Amino acid sequence: MPRPAPSRHQAWALLAAASAAGWAWGSRRARPRRAAGRTRAGRAAGPARPRNDLRQYDDLADHWWRREGEFAALHWLARARGALLPPAPWPGAPLLDVGCGGGLLAPHVQGYRHVGVDLVTSALTVAAGAGVDPVRADSARLPFADGAFAAVAAGEVLEHVDDLEGTVAEVCRVLAPGGTVVIDTIAATRFARLTLVDLAERLPGGPPRHCHDPQRFVDPAMLAERFAAGGVRLALRGLEPHAGDYLRFLVDRGRSVRMRPVPRLAGVYQGIGVKQSDGDQTATAHEERARAAGV
Ligand SMILES: C[S@@+](CC[C@H](N)C(=O)[O-])C[C@H]1O[C@@H](n2cnc3c(N)ncnc32)[C@H](O)[C@@H]1O
Repeated sequence: MPRPAPSRHQAWALLAAASAAGWAWGSRRARPRRAAGRTRAGRAAGPARPRNDLRQYDDLADHWWRREGEFAALHWLARARGALLPPAPWPGAPLLDVGCGGGLLAPHVQGYRHVGVDLVTSALTVAAGAGVDPVRADSARLPFADGAFAAVAAGEVLEHVDDLEGTVAEVCRVLAPGGTVVIDTIAATRFARLTLVDLAERLPGGPPRHCHDPQRFVDPAMLAERFAAGGVRLALRGLEPHAGDYLRFLVDRGRSVRMRPVPRLAGVYQGIGVKQSDGDQTATAHEERARAAGV
């Protein structure tokens, strides 16, 4: 497992500088009147909330599907997450979307019955409009039977939950043996804090102000260990916005931005794993015994 290694050259930082420069330039040249209820960066101006306060999703309930707005990057990440999902093993196979928000994964889910769990009712209402079967529940106490889902997605939620250990255990429990889990989250590094909180919260396309509490960012090695304890070996890779796409997004805010894989796990990262069947677990136990014996 590579250690999270901050890099001086990651795209968010470059994009931050480019964008900040663009604003400064733009602000000297032309000063369009700001729309009511918008901040200087074109963001929705809502009530000030503490970090990671779920009420902000109610404040922004109208924004889930605005591709140019507060949740723009969630659209880009949903596409990257959906690309990792295997084809549904049978038509209507159940897929659980943990912390589904407004259901942004829906366009990228083909052939599955898309069930979404979230704590925020307004988000579930929006998700239902996108074809998601909504269930209000805490990710650490999922109201489903063991092995109920052929696939589980947990995108941009693990860094928000109160009980990360319980959430991972529940994700593994409700996933059927042989089923696939796909996650993306944010690494617990100073780099992530700088680029994804201090900078990106002020950038177009970045997360809403106070969306994240960096204290909750997730160490990749610890996460992989927790999934392994649930019978899922996660393969991890970093993700960055494609720099050219992001610059085009700054000009035309409706455009999507591709996320590109990078080896470093210092900022946003993505994981995929398959839950072992009993046979595999036996095999793993054999492997571990063999390793312990120095074979
Ligand atoms: C940043 S949004 C991501 C939404 C969606 N996964 C996406 O990528 O578009 C985080 C979501 O997680 C939800 N959430 C936070 N804590 C949760 C918990 N303990 N159980 C279920 N959902 C939770 C929030 O309400 C919010 O909708």
